[in-house]
Amino acid sequence: MRKIAIALSKGGVGKTTTAVNLAAGLARQSRSVLLVDVDTQGQVSRALGCNPTTGLAEVVAGEATVEQAALLARDHLWLLGGGRSLAGLKRQITRKDFGGEQTLAEGLSGADSRYDFVILDTAPGWDALSINVLFYAEEVLAPVSLEVMTLQSLMEFRRSLESIQRYRQELALRYVLPTFFDRRVKKSGEILALLESHYPQQYCAPIRYSVRLSEAPGYGQAIFEYAPGSSGAQDYQALTERILNDGQA
Ligand SMILES: Nc1ncnc2c1ncn2[C@@H]1O[C@H](COP(=O)(O)OP(=O)(O)O)[C@@H](O)[C@H]1O
Ligand SMILES: [Mg+2]
Repeated sequence: MRKIAIALSKGGVGKTTTAVNLAAGLARQSRSVLLVDVDTQGQVSRALGCNPTTGLAEVVAGEATVEQAALLARDHLWLLGGGRSLAGLKRQITRKDFGGEQTLAEGLSGADSRYDFVILDTAPGWDALSINVLFYAEEVLAPVSLEVMTLQSLMEFRRSLESIQRYRQELALRYVLPTFFDRRVKKSGEILALLESHYPQQYCAPIRYSVRLSEAPGYGQAIFEYAPGSSGAQDYQALTERILNDGQA
């Protein structure tokens, strides 16, 4: 089983879009996927047109198993909802005297091996929940919108990641995914080249700017459902294949 966190401290870089469409892409290839929303905004559920009544908070509180709380959103795709109830979970974590950073990993340990992939969407910022995600996941995929500000966020995020890697050698920044790529914007191409040279192994083919990608969540659909012929569908399909080709599942 591969555990991939979609993370970067900056908001609006395409984390949720990537979590939803990568999970949908993997499920379309018949992999069992558990998509976990670790954001209090609950956007992952809406993007898939779902309205789960239980989710991650109930699992971590021990009120439900992953199996009971996860909703079958599509063939092979199970959703563990986030949303406002996560605020309580965050308080619970910060109240612990020790071991708080392991809370989510302990809660999700029952899910191990049942799924080929666990994909975790995270909130912007750096808080108790994001730290918990990084004590559970083994691979990090960082979406990087092609702006100078986002490059700075990536550097900061790497430093924060390193502080956790000291305790968890198995945690690796595996993928750097350029997003909002627009070849008409000169700066966009320059930043792309920079990312490719700095992250030769992690670098993924970019996700192009696509209006369809921004419309799909409003219809509760993954890009493969909403606009299967769009550049967004092509780009997320390429990402899916890249991650599958890296093996293990
Ligand atoms: N490649 C893209 N092209 C156009 N719009 C996009 C693209 N990726 C994401 N969006 C839109 O940009 C906004 C921010 O994306 P989102 O995935 O929610 O970012 P984050 O989760 O990092 O805050 C959303 O409205 C989303 O629909
Ligand atoms: Mg988001």
